[in-house]
Amino acid sequence: MRATAIAPSNIAFIKYWGNLDQELRLPYNASLSMTLDACTTTTTVAFEAGLEGDVVDVDGRALDATGTARVTAQLDRVRALSGIAQHARVTSANAFPMGTGIASSASAFAALTLAATRAAGLDLAERELSALARCGSGSAARSVPGGFVLWHAAPTHEGSFAESLAPPEHWDLRDIVAVVSRAHKAVGSTSGHELATTSPFFAPRLFGLHARLDAVRNAVLARDLAALGPLVEAEALELHAVAMTSQPPLRYWAPATIALLDCVVRWRADGLPAYFTLDAGPNVHLLCEGAHADELERLVRALPEVVDAYHNRPSVGAHPVAAP
Ligand code: PMV
Repeated sequence: MRATAIAPSNIAFIKYWGNLDQELRLPYNASLSMTLDACTTTTTVAFEAGLEGDVVDVDGRALDATGTARVTAQLDRVRALSGIAQHARVTSANAFPMGTGIASSASAFAALTLAATRAAGLDLAERELSALARCGSGSAARSVPGGFVLWHAAPTHEGSFAESLAPPEHWDLRDIVAVVSRAHKAVGSTSGHELATTSPFFAPRLFGLHARLDAVRNAVLARDLAALGPLVEAEALELHAVAMTSQPPLRYWAPATIALLDCVVRWRADGLPAYFTLDAGPNVHLLCEGAHADELERLVRALPEVVDAYHNRPSVGAHPVAAP
C-alpha cells in the first residue's frame, strides 16, 4: 500500500499551450521535449486506513488547499482504476524550486502517478501511465518516458500519451536552467491553457506547427544543434507571443529574462553555440552540447541576474525507487 517513485522534469522544444479538452488535458498540438536529470521530484504515496482526507506534504510543508485538491483529483483517478477506497499520505521532494517555470508540475505529477499506481497494486504500461499522468498536468505525460520524448495530440484519453523518440544517451545535449527568480508565478499554466485560444495568434500558430515539429524531430534525431536551436528559440517566442496577447494578457517575463536572452545572442555571436528556450515563467533554459556546457554554465553563473543554475543532461524516465 506504499510506493516511491522519481520522475524528471522536461523542457519542451515544441510547446504545449492550449487544451482541446480542459478536463482531460488533451492538447491542441503534439509537443516534443527533453527530460532533465537534475530537476527531479521524488514522491512517496501510502494509502492508509483512518485518514479523513489525502494529506500532501511538499518539500517539508503541507500543500495548500488548491494544490491538495489537484493531487486528490489525480489520486481519485488511481482509486477508480484500482478499487482502493483509502485516502493517502503523499510526501514529495523537489530538487528545484516549484512554480517558477522549471515545470515542477511535470515531474510532480509523473512521480505522483507512478507512486500512486504502484502503491495501489497497479502495474500500468508506459503509455497508459503517461496518459494518466497527463490528466494531472499535461506536460507530466512527457516526464514518464526517458530521453527525447514526443507527446501525441489525439481527441481521446487513450490516444494522447507520450513516448520516447530517442534514449538519453542518443545525444549529449545539455539544458542549463538560469534561475532569475525563485518567486512562485502569479498565473499558473492551467489558466494559461484556458486563455490560449483568446489570442489572435493561436490559430495561425497551430497552422505552422506541424512543419516545425517535423523539423525539430529531424534535428533531434540527427543531433543537429545548428538546425534545432533557431527552431526552439522561435517556438519559445511564439508561446510567449500567444500568452502576451491572450485576454487578459499573461506576461511571464521579468527584466532579467530579457537580459539573459540578449546574453545568449551575444555569446553566440562570439562563437559559443548556445540557444534559449522558456516555459511559463521568467527563468531561461540554455541549450548547448556537452563540449560547451561547462563554459556556458560559468558564464551563466557569473551574471548578476542569475540566482542559481541547474545543469541538466537528458534523463531516464519516471521509475520506482526504494522508499526513503
Ligand atoms: O503541464 P502544464 O499545464 O504545466 O503546461 C506546461 C506548459 C509549458 O511548460 C509552458 C510548455 C510545455 O510544453 O511544457
